[in-house]
Amino acid sequence: MTESPGDGAGYLAEPQVRAMFDRISGIYDRLNGVMTGGLHHAWRRRAVELAAIGPGAHALDVATGTGDLAFALADAVAPTGAVVGVDFAEQMLAVARAKAAVRAPGGGSGRAGQPAAVSFERANALALPFADGSFDAATVGFGVRNFADLDAGLHELARVVRPGGRVVILEITTPQHPPLSTFFRLWFERIVPVLGRLAGDPEAYSYLPSSVRRFPPPQELARRMAGAGLVEIRYLITAGGIIALHVGTVR
Ligand SMILES: C[S@@+](CC[C@H](N)C(=O)[O-])C[C@H]1O[C@@H](n2cnc3c(N)ncnc32)[C@H](O)[C@@H]1O
Repeated sequence: MTESPGDGAGYLAEPQVRAMFDRISGIYDRLNGVMTGGLHHAWRRRAVELAAIGPGAHALDVATGTGDLAFALADAVAPTGAVVGVDFAEQMLAVARAKAAVRAPGGGSGRAGQPAAVSFERANALALPFADGSFDAATVGFGVRNFADLDAGLHELARVVRPGGRVVILEITTPQHPPLSTFFRLWFERIVPVLGRLAGDPEAYSYLPSSVRRFPPPQELARRMAGAGLVEIRYLITAGGIIALHVGTVR
């Protein structure tokens, strides 16, 4: 969920987003841990539960970054399932692949007690290189906020999941009520940019608050998911109002 420089309005063109994530790939995991107090792992596990997949399933994690949500999916589909993580930032994928090699040298074996196979491919979320209905579920963690075209990305997610399969979106959201709204503003607009500077990149992490501010609120995202053809959409807000998990089913 960690990010970098912006134009103040929270918008960056695609090549800038890609370059930004390539640049921060080396510190991304560490700052995620610091910024969330390690809670992001629990949020990812919740996202996987909402995907409602089990052993043997095929899942896709879009905007996978350094792969943590893909690995959480892999735990759910082990030992015979498979997970593909896609991202357009090659350096983020390099970190994900290095983590996968440590997790399961040679890839998932398919044997009981072993992690499921996880592979990482370079792809743009707005034009996924997969046939319709290829996956049992698709997830995005802290990624849709960065899409140059949110509706196109949601349509692609719905397209590549089979009918009856789920699309799950984990994203930061803005708390509406004090005292958390005050704390959130302080944290994101004052502390996070300082953490980015301490991490060695003077511009780092100023994009994050602005991108969160411009992102649609939960009810609006749910409406956009319906527009992409998803049904049975629901969402839950957790972590004191800063995290939204949306789930929809492919018709
Ligand atoms: C904040 S990181 C999230 C990474 C990871 N999903 C996580 O939960 O930590 C956002 C990721 O989205 C990727 N991304 C943004 N727009 C994308 C697009 N159109 N296609 C593919 N990846 C994209 C970025 O490269 C970056 O790795």
